[in-house]
Amino acid sequence: MEEAEEEVGVKISCVISDAFLWFCCEIAEEKGLSWFPIWTANVVSLSAAFYTDVLRTKFGVLKQGRGDELVDCVPGFSNVRLRDIVDCVPGLVTESINSIFDQMVYKMGLMLPKAKAVVVNTFEKLSPTITNDLKSKMRLLCVGPFPLMFPSEVVFDKYDCLPWLDKQKEKSVVYISFGTVMAPPPHEFVALAEALECAGFPFLWSINDSNKGHLPSWFIDRVKEDEAFGKIVQWAPQMKVLGHPSVGGFVTHCGWNSVLESIVNGVPLICRPMLGDQRLNQRFIECIYEFGVGVEGGVFTKGGMIKALHRVLSSNEGKEMRKSVDVLRELAEE
Ligand SMILES: *[C@@H]1O[C@H](CO)[C@@H](O)[C@H](O)[C@H]1NC(C)=O
Repeated sequence: MEEAEEEVGVKISCVISDAFLWFCCEIAEEKGLSWFPIWTANVVSLSAAFYTDVLRTKFGVLKQGRGDELVDCVPGFSNVRLRDIVDCVPGLVTESINSIFDQMVYKMGLMLPKAKAVVVNTFEKLSPTITNDLKSKMRLLCVGPFPLMFPSEVVFDKYDCLPWLDKQKEKSVVYISFGTVMAPPPHEFVALAEALECAGFPFLWSINDSNKGHLPSWFIDRVKEDEAFGKIVQWAPQMKVLGHPSVGGFVTHCGWNSVLESIVNGVPLICRPMLGDQRLNQRFIECIYEFGVGVEGGVFTKGGMIKALHRVLSSNEGKEMRKSVDVLRELAEE
C-alpha cells in the first residue's frame, strides 16, 4: 500500500474488500482508514454469521434429530429451522470453530460492527426485519440487487438460446443451471432427465461438457432429434433467459446471484441447494418470500421432480408464486 501511494502520489483513503477478508479491517485500522466490506449475498446469511455466538450459546453443539427446531433467538428467523442455518453458522455442529472457512466466517462476524459501512447486494424491503436489526448493530448499506444496478450492455448468445426461446409458448419452459462451482451427483442428473422426459415441459439446460457426460445417451439423442423436446447448451445468457416471456420456472442451486436474477425477472424457482448460504436461501424462498419449492428429500428423484415441475409450471400454487415474485420484482425496482 505504501509503495502504491508513493508511486501515484496519492494517499489511500479507504479499504474496500470482500467481507470474508476480515483482516482488511485490521489493515485499515492500523493505517487509520475506514473499512468497507462488501457482502455479495443476502442479509439473511450475513445475520446468521453475525449471531454465531448467540446461536452457539443457545443450541450448543447440534446433535442429530434437532434439525426441525426453530431458530427463535435471531430477529427475522422465527420460521427458520436449525437444519437451514448449519452451513452458515460456524461451529454449530462441531465442538470448536476449527476449519479455515469457519474461522473466516466467524471473524468476519466479529469485525462487521467496526466497518464504516457494510455494503450488501440486496434491497431493504426484501427482508425488512433482518435489515433493520442489523442496522442497529452496524452501518448497513443495501445497494443491490446488482443485476439491476449493473446491467450488462452486451449479450453473448453463442448457443442461440434466445431464438430457441422465441419459438416456445409463454411461461412453458424450464430453465436449468447450477452455476459454475458445484453440481449435483451423476445419478441426480439422470433422475432430472427422466423427470423432464416424463413431465413433458420443454427445457433449456445450461451444463458444461464434463457434467453433460452424466446425462443418459437416450436423453442426448432425443434432444438432437427433436428441437421441441429441449435444448442443451454449455453456457446461457442467464439474465436474458430469465427475462424471456417463455421461461416459466428455474431449477437452481439457489446461489444468491441466481436468486436475485430470478427476482428481478419474476421467475419462480425449484431449489436444489448444495453448500454455503444456499439451503438458507431455499428456506426463505419457500416459506418467507414464497416464490419457489424445494425438491422432496432435498435431492432429485424422478417422482419428486415431476411433482415439483407441475407445482411450479402448471398449478394454481405456481400462479401464486409468480404473483409473490412479481411483488418482490417491483420492490427491487423501486
Ligand atoms: C464443469 O463444472 C463442474 C462443476 O459443476 C466443474 O467441477 C468442472 O471442472 C467443469 N468442467 C469444465 C470442463 O469446465
